[in-house]
Amino acid sequence: MVDLSFKIKDLYFKNPVLTASGTFGYGPEFDDFVDVSELGGVIVKGTTLEHREGNPYPRMAETPSGMLNAVGLQNKGIDYFIKHIYSEIKSYKTNMIVNVSGSAVKDYVEVAEKLNHLDAIPAIELNISCPNVKEGGMAFGTSCESAQSVISAVRKVYKKVMIVKLSPNVTDIASIAKTAEDEGADAVSLINTLLGMAIDAEKRRPILSTVTGGLSGPAVKPVALRMVWQVSKAVKIPIIGLGGIMNATDAIEFFLAGASAIQIGTANFIDPEISIKVIKGIEEYMLRHNFKTIDEMVGKLEC
Ligand SMILES: Cc1cc2nc3c(=O)[nH]c(=O)nc-3n(C[C@H](O)[C@H](O)[C@H](O)COP(=O)(O)O)c2cc1C
Repeated sequence: MVDLSFKIKDLYFKNPVLTASGTFGYGPEFDDFVDVSELGGVIVKGTTLEHREGNPYPRMAETPSGMLNAVGLQNKGIDYFIKHIYSEIKSYKTNMIVNVSGSAVKDYVEVAEKLNHLDAIPAIELNISCPNVKEGGMAFGTSCESAQSVISAVRKVYKKVMIVKLSPNVTDIASIAKTAEDEGADAVSLINTLLGMAIDAEKRRPILSTVTGGLSGPAVKPVALRMVWQVSKAVKIPIIGLGGIMNATDAIEFFLAGASAIQIGTANFIDPEISIKVIKGIEEYMLRHNFKTIDEMVGKLEC
């Protein structure tokens, strides 16, 4: 038998497969397809202090081996989440983690403070990496100084597990990861989407209303793997890897590169049952390769 569990600080995850923010709703949207409680965790949609309409349409474009999105953190805000969504998701028997987004440090802090009081939310994922919000988001994750300001401010008020989600739109991701660790992050997750664009040549216009958007899916996997591998050399805290994971083999590659857990994003749109299939595939691989724990696999890339 294999043990799929892992921990971030004292927080126990029954397996290392989580669903990525913005690609799995809040969980109930997928009840018809999977038993959400079987997942290692669910990272819910980016939640901000105030209600956000998101960006105008069109805000999705297909690309070879991936997709571009410019949803722009559409959500009803933290108070709505607490009042209406929390009660719907708090009975899932898995780690329900809220992705916290914002455009000012004080917004992140206020949202984190409110989440501190929710017993069924054991962790937050601090999104300092959203490329689709004009007035902030990604800006926090692209320099050590700005990352430091938001991470340390949230750390002061948030007492439970804090995961910091990193932007790939930087030249030196390892130094941002190190900053996150130094400022008290309990884990880092990477990558968020890569900034890209799509053009309609006939109309001579950009396809997305925002011109640029975030690229995700198989196209980004090599970049994500490279970054996870670089970050694993720079920090001691656990790494949650994501970016283009479409099956169990992709997931295993992230473990070998140094991740202790993974998230599934765009693949949920193609196959809503993929997360559970990936859990089974990881187990099969571990049996075939005689790995008894996830830990035994992490960083076992032979270069
Ligand atoms: C439609 C869509 C919405 C997303 N919304 C969020 C979000 O609210 N917060 C966040 O941190 N990441 C968000 N992401 C990024 C994903 O969580 C993930 O980091 C990225 O898509 C890379 O993983 P993938 O290639 O497996 O999709 C979103 C991605 C997509 C495609």
